[in-house]
Amino acid sequence: MSLLEVKNLHTYFDTKRGLVKAVNGVSFSVDEGRTLGIVGESGSGKSQTAMSILQLFESNQKIYDGEIIFDGEVISKYNENQLRKIRGNDISMIFQEPMTSLNPVFTVEKQISEVLILHQGMTKKEASVKSKEMLEAVKIPNAERVLKSYPHQLSGGMSQRVMIAMALACNPRILIADEPTTALDVIIQAEILKLMNDLKTNFKTSILFITHDLGVISQMADDVIVMYGGKIVEAAPIMSIFKDARHPYTKRLMAAFLKTDINSRKDHDQVAPDLYEAENEVFDFKNFRENGVADSDWHQVADNHFVAVNLLNKENV
Ligand SMILES: Nc1ncnc2c1ncn2[C@@H]1O[C@H](COP(=O)(O)OP(=O)(O)OP(=O)(O)O)[C@@H](O)[C@H]1O
Ligand SMILES: [Mg+2]
Repeated sequence: MSLLEVKNLHTYFDTKRGLVKAVNGVSFSVDEGRTLGIVGESGSGKSQTAMSILQLFESNQKIYDGEIIFDGEVISKYNENQLRKIRGNDISMIFQEPMTSLNPVFTVEKQISEVLILHQGMTKKEASVKSKEMLEAVKIPNAERVLKSYPHQLSGGMSQRVMIAMALACNPRILIADEPTTALDVIIQAEILKLMNDLKTNFKTSILFITHDLGVISQMADDVIVMYGGKIVEAAPIMSIFKDARHPYTKRLMAAFLKTDINSRKDHDQVAPDLYEAENEVFDFKNFRENGVADSDWHQVADNHFVAVNLLNKENV
């Protein structure tokens, strides 16, 4: 049994202009100690898939269909009280913008301690000791001083580390990281990614890692799902996506990535020559977004590698 199973999830927004089908029939699972990457362009439904797991919803948003099962429990049926017990405890989240997630009026110590007091029943003193340990675990130098700081006194990279420390404070079984390093410069980004991989090894946490950056996903994920228009178009182990992308959308994503990121490599044609042809591939994206049925007809192309056949021209598989 997988630690987290998302089955046929449909999450919609009820707006004046009708239902916005942000997540439209998404299924995947995450095993213990594994990292699943979610990639896809802006608006493809990555964040809303993540938000659905803990039901961090706006008032006009809800799960219309499907199930989310965590450790054998159907948590998509949980009420607000039950959800509060697992948020930040069994399942925690790191967001893209640390400044919007850290509370500006409280010190770092108070914010990490609060989670520990709430979920682990620690005393203030115990929580303070543990907070310092967590800052040290995420390699924050001078943890004592940082504990007494307010968020605005920290750099972006430092705030992100504090967010990670806070997210890991209760030793969650799943960490959901939604573009956790996009706002950071590349050197800090590399450090944070390494740190997350180390923490995964040390804490055995499963990670759901969301990004539109294929370079980042290649360093982080064991398996990947590719989303487009609220649906999954391809799911595969990380190496298969890079070596053997099948869906026209995945191929386009790969081609764009290879062009921009390693264009200067002399051997780039040998890396994946057919990807460059993907841009000319005929695929009716508009029809797919509006009319595509997501959860049927999967075609298995290799071990754990699936392509949504009804979303593409069958001859291309
Ligand atoms: N508050 C909202 N009201 C209505 N529609 C929304 C709202 N928030 C998001 N959506 C829609 O839900 C869809 C999925 O959005 P989501 O935020 O999950 O995209 P994303 O893949 O995370 O994109 P990005 O890479 O830009 O973060 C989009 O079509 C978006 O327009
Ligand atoms: Mg997003």
